[in-house]
Amino acid sequence: MDHFLYRDGVLHAEDVAVAEIAAAVGTPFYVYSTATLLRHFKLFDEALAGMDHMVCYAMKANSNIAVLRTLAQAGAGMDVVSIGEYLRAKAAGVPGDHIVFSGVGKTADEIRMALQGGIRQFNVESEPEMMVLSKVAQELGTTAPITIRVNPDVDAKTHAKIATGKSENKFGIPIARAREVYSMAAGLPGLEVIGIDVHIGSQLTDLAPFEQAYLKVAELTETLRADGHTINRLDLGGGLGIPYQHSNAAPPLPTDYGALVKRTLGHLGCEIEIEPGRLIAGNAGLMVSKVIYVKSGEDRDFLILDGAMNDLIRPAMYDAHHDIIAVNEPAPAIEYQPYDIVGPICESGDTFAKGRMMPPLVAGDLVAFRSAGAYGAVMSSEYNSRPLIPEVLVKDDQFAVIRSRPTFDEMINRDTIPEWL
Ligand code: LLP
Repeated sequence: MDHFLYRDGVLHAEDVAVAEIAAAVGTPFYVYSTATLLRHFKLFDEALAGMDHMVCYAMKANSNIAVLRTLAQAGAGMDVVSIGEYLRAKAAGVPGDHIVFSGVGKTADEIRMALQGGIRQFNVESEPEMMVLSKVAQELGTTAPITIRVNPDVDAKTHAKIATGKSENKFGIPIARAREVYSMAAGLPGLEVIGIDVHIGSQLTDLAPFEQAYLKVAELTETLRADGHTINRLDLGGGLGIPYQHSNAAPPLPTDYGALVKRTLGHLGCEIEIEPGRLIAGNAGLMVSKVIYVKSGEDRDFLILDGAMNDLIRPAMYDAHHDIIAVNEPAPAIEYQPYDIVGPICESGDTFAKGRMMPPLVAGDLVAFRSAGAYGAVMSSEYNSRPLIPEVLVKDDQFAVIRSRPTFDEMINRDTIPEWL
């Protein structure tokens, strides 16, 4: 559920007309709903009620510091994968002991800064990383709390580019070698083993792969405890999918997921951490764009928008579907027609949808891409020297620009010309 609904024939973000924001900030832009962000966070938080837990929002999905502060004020921790994300979380006011550091290639410098700034735990992904962590922690005269990310060799049944839990993926250590690696960790100075971490992929629309993975984690918890390790915390990753296509069956809800966690792991008495990103932010955001031209091709009509693949890359990169709706509500009797919906960038990959049924649209009309709050703005670029588009946050009847559109000068002046030129 989200808070982007038609009212009196015009699309609203909570109580603000989307066209009003467009008039104020220009198009294209991203707009996020506070109420939707909070609702999704609370769904997870409540789904784990009764278990000691922390929902650590995977901020790679949307790392604007206003979004982070909104969630942090509701009690969310953060899952970060770079020191840049760590510093953003700090800038948003998140305390170090609410920040979990994941990622397959943490550098010594990143580890040092996180240890100095305060961290809840590192999710270690390899033996060489563990050695570096041990060394840096000793140099600083401190102890690093760690979990080790295990790769359970489970097929997440999602897009190949976002599956992470099969043995051929680069993530974690093979679960079959877990005992060996935990015993190595126990022997290294500067480390305190506190638990296990697992994350099998993103946009999962079925609970079965989670169940397979969590049952393996439950078994491993018992084994490692019997080996003498302290396993008090289980980080279960993120990955629960969202409905991108409103006409399709909806994936399982956080409530179902929470029940699964309790059923598979509840008896172990561990603190549970989860790292949802997409489900919290995805349907809390729209990308709004304007039709520049309607062009009649030989066998189809094109809607040429002012938004492009550099602003929202998911369709080009993963063949992802985003519902695209007219900001002015189509009259009930209107006849829809197929359009290829494209951006202005000079490559055919800059296509958002082919043969998409839309009400008839003309130049100047606004359209909104739904489910664009996660992996939208964060994956954007300035390809074709198109400035990054602004982000806007709505709360009830208020809205604020939370990242402004850079000027062309700002964009160009980041380049410098060497002396010899
Ligand atoms: N934890 C870890 C260790 C992760 O790698 C990820 C996502 C998450 C949590 C959050 O997963 P979520 O709840 O958002 O599914 N750019 C792609 C998605 C990449 C996901 C990468 N890792 C897309 O646009 O679909």
